[in-house]
Amino acid sequence: MNDLEDLLVTRPEPGVMLITLTRPSARNALRTATLAEIVRVLDVAAADAAIGAVVLTGSEKFFAAGADLKEMAALGPIDLLADPRPLHWKRIAAFSKPLLAAVHGYALGAGCELVMHVDIVIAGEAAQFGQPEINLGIIPGAGGTQRLARVVGKSRAMQMVLTGESIDAYIALQCGLASEVHPADAVLPRTLALARTIAAKAPLALRAAKEAVLLSYESGLSVALDAERKSFVLLAASHDRNEGIAAFLEKRMPTYLGR
Ligand code: CAA
Repeated sequence: MNDLEDLLVTRPEPGVMLITLTRPSARNALRTATLAEIVRVLDVAAADAAIGAVVLTGSEKFFAAGADLKEMAALGPIDLLADPRPLHWKRIAAFSKPLLAAVHGYALGAGCELVMHVDIVIAGEAAQFGQPEINLGIIPGAGGTQRLARVVGKSRAMQMVLTGESIDAYIALQCGLASEVHPADAVLPRTLALARTIAAKAPLALRAAKEAVLLSYESGLSVALDAERKSFVLLAASHDRNEGIAAFLEKRMPTYLGR
């Protein structure tokens, strides 16, 4: 992964991969190559048993300013029909391990949509979340109308999408777009600590848990409850489930094997 142009990938904590967006000259605008790089790195993380959770972050001033408008300006409808971006987004959404984001500054347009692909969002006090596409004569194109409405509710989503105005970190917290807000210097340490805590859990249970929670956005309650129960039953066949319960009863730390 030495050839990445828009990302820096590190492993700052045991079991944790950190992906930092590094395109400050374009305020971390997510050009197609950036999305392709994110997908590539997530594929590596998915295949690496030593990685239990991944954290995405930007700079201390901005997370990501949206799709790359210079790139987008050159694309007509026929180009957009063959656009690889929707496939990249699908692959990010399908990443099976926990994905967290430490968000500073602007998360706009596709940047806000990237935030909504993440499982846990920790925001800095100065973070701003917005879908400003309406100001450009377009609409969100990477799930911003659908995921936003599901996360923050109809009225707030409509307000954001129709006015293009951003919400601040505390409103994001209030409406469930972020789960915690911290002073700038505490955001990444807190997110990495959460990722480390998560990465120490049983990998099969993490995968099943993520899948089950995400299913609540995809299907009706009875179907999702059925799926939850099936995963719960299936996990009883895993080494780690028996180890987890045995370790609790024997008052010791569990040793998970990921099977
Ligand atoms: N795409 C490409 N370049 C961008 C960009 C973007 N989304 N956002 C900023 N840049 C570039 C600017 O063009 C500028 O480049 P030059 O130096 O070559 O002129 C550079 O980054 C710095 O920009 P600013 O001077 O504007 O920086 P700022 O710090 O004062 O403001 C900002 C930052 C508030 C993010 C502002 O740049 C901005 O409003 N950007 C556009 C945000 C936007 O509209 N995003 C939605 C994109 S559409 C989308 O995402 C569709 C989708 O859903 C798929």
